[in-house]
Order: sequence, then C-alpha cells, then structure tokens
Amino acid sequence: MHSEHDGMNPTASASESAIASTSAFACAIPDGERNQAQRQGASSASDASDAGIAAAHAWLRDARHVVVFTGAGVSAESGIPTFRDALTGLWARFDPQALATEEGFRADPTLVWRWYAERRAAVANARPNAAHEAIARYEARGGRRVDVVTQNVDGLHRRAGSHRVLELHGDITRVKCLDGCGAPEPIDPAFDWRGDAREPPPCPRCGAPLRPDVVWFGEFLSEAALAEAQRAASSCDAMLVVGTSALVYPAAELPVLARRSGARLVVVDPERTAIDDIADAVVRAPAAVALPSLLAE
Ligand code: OAD
Repeated sequence: MHSEHDGMNPTASASESAIASTSAFACAIPDGERNQAQRQGASSASDASDAGIAAAHAWLRDARHVVVFTGAGVSAESGIPTFRDALTGLWARFDPQALATEEGFRADPTLVWRWYAERRAAVANARPNAAHEAIARYEARGGRRVDVVTQNVDGLHRRAGSHRVLELHGDITRVKCLDGCGAPEPIDPAFDWRGDAREPPPCPRCGAPLRPDVVWFGEFLSEAALAEAQRAASSCDAMLVVGTSALVYPAAELPVLARRSGARLVVVDPERTAIDDIADAVVRAPAAVALPSLLAE
C-alpha cells in the first residue's frame, strides 16, 4: 500500500506529539503502550500500489545517500520476536518495567540476567534473513552511501555484511558494569555469558554486577551515536524505514528529521506505523519479502 504526501501534517502525526512529550535523549516506555489499539484498528490501510512501489524503488536506486532505519520487524523473519506485536511481541508477554529498566534489574538481577541470557542465546542461533542480506548487498553495490541505523541489539545487520551500522540501543552480546565504575565499556566483547552463569557475574574492576550493554527505558542513548544518526537523517536523500512501530524516542524522531530535511521517506511494515502519515510511500509487506526487490538494481 502506498500513500503520497506533498508535505507533512504535524498535527496528524503520532510521532510529532510523542516528541513533545518525551525527553530528547532518554529512552521512554511509550505511554501505556497505548498505541496497540490504534495500531490494530489501523491495520487495514490501503494496499500497496505497483506505482508506489515502483516510485520507491526509483528513489532508492537514484539516491546518493540513504539511511536504512530498522526496528525489530526486520529480524522477525529470523525468528526473533518483536516487542509490540499483539500476540507474539515481547511486551505483550513480559513486563518492560521489570525487565528493561535499571530499577527492574536492581530489584531482581537474577531474573533480568536470565531473561537476557535466553534472548542472547536466541540471537546467537538466529541467522540474518533476506531483508538484512538485501540491505548489505545494496551497500556493497556502491554508487551511494548507505547508513544503517538500527534500534535492534541483535547484531544481524553486521552479520549480514553491512559495514556502516549504528546500533542506537546497544548490543545484547556485550556487558558493562551496572555502576559504571569506569571499567572499559563494554567490558569484554568476547565475554561468554551463555555458559553456566545463572547470576550476573561481578565487574572485574569494582565487583558490582555486570549487566547487558543495552539501553533500558529511562536511560540515555550514546550521545555520539545519536548525533551521528541525526546528522545522517538530516543529510540523506532517502530514508527507508523497516519494521519499527516508531513509538520509542528519541530514535523515532529520525524519520521526522529526514522528512523535514527533504528526504524521501519509504516505510516497509505489514502493519500501520506511527509515521505512515508522513511517508512518501508505504509498502505493507514483510521485510524479507519486500526488500530484495525494493533494493534491487
Ligand atoms: P516494535 O515491536 O515496537 O515494532 C515492530 C514493528 O515491526 C511493528 O510495526 C510490526 O508491525 C513490524 N513487523 C512485524 N513483522 C514484520 C516483518 N516480518 N517485516 C517487517 N516489519 C514487521 O519494535 P521496535 O519499533 O523496534 O527498545 O521497538 C523500538 C524499541 O522498543 C526497541 O528497540 C526496544 C523496544 O522496547 C529497547 O529495548 C530500549
């Protein structure tokens, strides 16, 4: 499905109001996950038109600088669950307050450590899918700069062969000191937390528990990574947004920035997202189905 807009309508954009209501740099839990109903109600949006897909393909083929902005949906076909899908999403089954905040970790470090250990094992067993591979091939083909900006912590873009990857929410395979004692962060990229460790091991420098090197709700993103992503979003000719509900800020601000700076905005998602209203084209399909042809020569 496809929708064309000559300009964006800030009052109609969920993303605009969310910007106003959350801190610029901290990662906040979306308001009561309230968009679930909104998203389900809107999932019957019009079908992608061939003309819309053809236009999106041409913009992506002709652009000199493209940002591919991804969320959990790009890894769905690798078997990694998303966060907000109604039945299978992690936040439909688990409490983000207990599992993805520093308070949750301090209250029950063992529970949180084990939950991440399971997710890390799932990521280790997963393989990049046709969408990750199409993005990597698109970069490798040359002729344009391709920056991948991802909210995912699974490392699948890098494993698929993408080189310019900004991981805004961290990397689930790494750990860091809970108290930020000054030990190098992340402490040891090769740290093996699959083993038998059922409790968070102590930081080798100060003894505080180690925690996953991911951004939890209420925490700040790496300022350097965010600034780089914002620069790329404001200077690209086209942004391809894949598999994100675009509800979590500040990452979700990036498509708005790109659109404001005059870039073409193409969204690929089987469900309605918070930024569909400002997109130039919306392709309502799974990433591994849509991307190989959308990014083909
Ligand atoms: P969400 O779970 O909010 O959104 C996933 C999106 O992927 C939804 O719009 C789905 O419709 C879509 N989707 C599902 N299957 C797909 C497929 N096969 N192909 C393409 N799209 C598909 O995940 P994110 O937007 O990534 O933050 O969530 C943002 C952040 O919220 C995450 O980084 C995480 C989470 O809480 C932290 O952990 C800090």
